[in-house]
Amino acid sequence: MNFEKILFSVKDKTAVITINRPKALNALNSEVIAELDAVVQIVEANPQIRVVVIGSDKNFAAGADIKAMIEMNPEQARAFGFTPTFNKLENLSKPTIAAISGYALGGGLELALVCDLRIAAPDAKLGLPEINLGIIPGAGGTQRLSRLIGTSRAKELVFQGAIIDANKALQYGLINEIADNPMEAAMKHAEKIAVKAPLALKAVKECIAMTAKTDIRSGLEYEEVAWSRLYATKDQKEGMRAFAEKRKPIFTGE
Ligand code: CAA
Repeated sequence: MNFEKILFSVKDKTAVITINRPKALNALNSEVIAELDAVVQIVEANPQIRVVVIGSDKNFAAGADIKAMIEMNPEQARAFGFTPTFNKLENLSKPTIAAISGYALGGGLELALVCDLRIAAPDAKLGLPEINLGIIPGAGGTQRLSRLIGTSRAKELVFQGAIIDANKALQYGLINEIADNPMEAAMKHAEKIAVKAPLALKAVKECIAMTAKTDIRSGLEYEEVAWSRLYATKDQKEGMRAFAEKRKPIFTGE
């Protein structure tokens, strides 16, 4: 598939996805979301890809395309919504990293919230300013931000439509790290993760996702089953044999 509204490349074992509407500060419209949806399926199906980095050297994304939404009615707004695609990205079996430069606002920040890790430039600007448009965050912002930083801080930011810098985002636990070059930093993380056992990484994501879905007792049972199932994989044998033989393991995802 040819992409126009996103850029997609694979470097070593890492897929790099960039929104490609620089003149609109990478605002997200239906075409961007359709391409993002397609690329998620390509990434999932390709065993060579172990990690995904989303971001660009300039703006991450300044939100949903406001000009496309002005005259929408509720049904059209529902159909325009990003949640189905963002859910697919969240459920991707491979770790995802958002590299945030410039603006990550509204749907842009919600895209970053779907990722497993977030790295931001010192002068990045993050926020959910939808309240200023007479709406609320509608691509997971109220749900994922609250779970990540707590309901009180989420309300503080969303009530005011506040735009915060990387320092405050780090202090609030919204990002993992500040880096002068977030893409470079994300690629370094990706390189370290890409050599780990893919099925174990998938299991980690599934188990940690359970924390938002279930009570701790059920979560612990889920973890125990996921943990023991990995003993049916070649990678478990390889990882433990490599330890015993004092060498580095080579994981194949089997
Ligand atoms: N939608 C559509 N176009 C956008 C956009 C957006 N979200 N953000 C920026 N643009 C466009 C501008 O209209 C402008 O286009 P023109 O040159 O054709 O006029 C271009 O990008 C450059 O933007 P500015 O001139 O505004 O740049 P600036 O540096 O003065 O300001 C900004 C930057 C503060 C990010 C400002 O553009 C802004 O406030 N953007 C909107 C941010 C926002 O409200 N995002 C939330 C959207 S709603 C949402 O995301 C809903 C949801 O939950 C899914």
